[in-house]
Amino acid sequence: SRLPLLLRAMPKAELHIHIEGSLEPELIFALAERNGVDLPYADVEALRAAYAFTDLQSFLDIYYAGASVLLQEEDFYDMTMAYLRRAVQDNVVRAEIFFDPQTHTERGVAMGTIIHGLTRACRDAHAQWGISAELILSFLRHLSEEDAIATLEAALPFRDQFIGVGLDSSELGHPPEKFTRVFARAKQLGLRLVAHAGEEGPPAYVWGALNALAVERIDHGVQSEKDAALMQHLVERGIPLTVCPLSNLKLCVVDDLTQHNLPRMLDAGLKVMVNSDDPAYFGGYVNDNYVQLFAATGMGAEHAYQLARNSLEATFASPQQQAAWV
Ligand code: HPA
Ligand code: ZN
Repeated sequence: SRLPLLLRAMPKAELHIHIEGSLEPELIFALAERNGVDLPYADVEALRAAYAFTDLQSFLDIYYAGASVLLQEEDFYDMTMAYLRRAVQDNVVRAEIFFDPQTHTERGVAMGTIIHGLTRACRDAHAQWGISAELILSFLRHLSEEDAIATLEAALPFRDQFIGVGLDSSELGHPPEKFTRVFARAKQLGLRLVAHAGEEGPPAYVWGALNALAVERIDHGVQSEKDAALMQHLVERGIPLTVCPLSNLKLCVVDDLTQHNLPRMLDAGLKVMVNSDDPAYFGGYVNDNYVQLFAATGMGAEHAYQLARNSLEATFASPQQQAAWV
């Protein structure tokens, strides 16, 4: 079949990618050496062997350990250039990239160091390869709302270098309502709003993200299927769901890719598309997600077209920019 070729060649947007989750083990060890950071793993193979996850938290523990090697502006730049170089190979024309500043400021890294490194890579990648890339500042939901508010305030000197805010990390026990005030403040500032919801958490968390936070997209959202009224609401409002099949598989959100509900959600009229989440940890970049999901579920060329179209229409780029892609 020529379907994998179509999936790889079609222009697409990636809207759910954590830049810290693009750090490959080889780059983690190179940065550890450059910065004199001690890692609790002997070598690349030992680190990779630890990538056997049972749920979201078991992944997050290793993901935050990997991010501990990021200290200098150049580290953030090198990580982001490596991701964007890889995204261009996958025919990604637009990337909206999450970064987790609290993971770094907590270790004494300045907000400006983080954002400048990320921004410089987005600019250089655009100039060299034509890819359009923007940043979304994501709050860690296991920390307090006060901490999120302080993080947003610390990022305001760099307000023109990110387009929105998101919400990630440990979902269960940290409902969206915990962050109502900081999302209201972000909205006042003209920032675009997204949140992880319904990855492991119940449909009530998706309702909470929509109603309490006023988000414009839901990250993951795969648990929405358990609530028929929510499904109808998502279809009527045209709310995009940034689905990540290999992430769901590796974090045991689904038992098997053949069981993944993306085809059902697409057929139900939801604006879903395919993303990689944390490609260095989950065994594949965005095209690997498309190819493996299609092989497992038997979707065809019409589904491929609709998913790529959904991805491009769900970006926060201007309508003029979107018209050039769709
Ligand atoms: N869920 C929650 N937090 C995250 C994820 C995710 O899939 N990836 C990186 N941080
Ligand atoms: Zn995610």
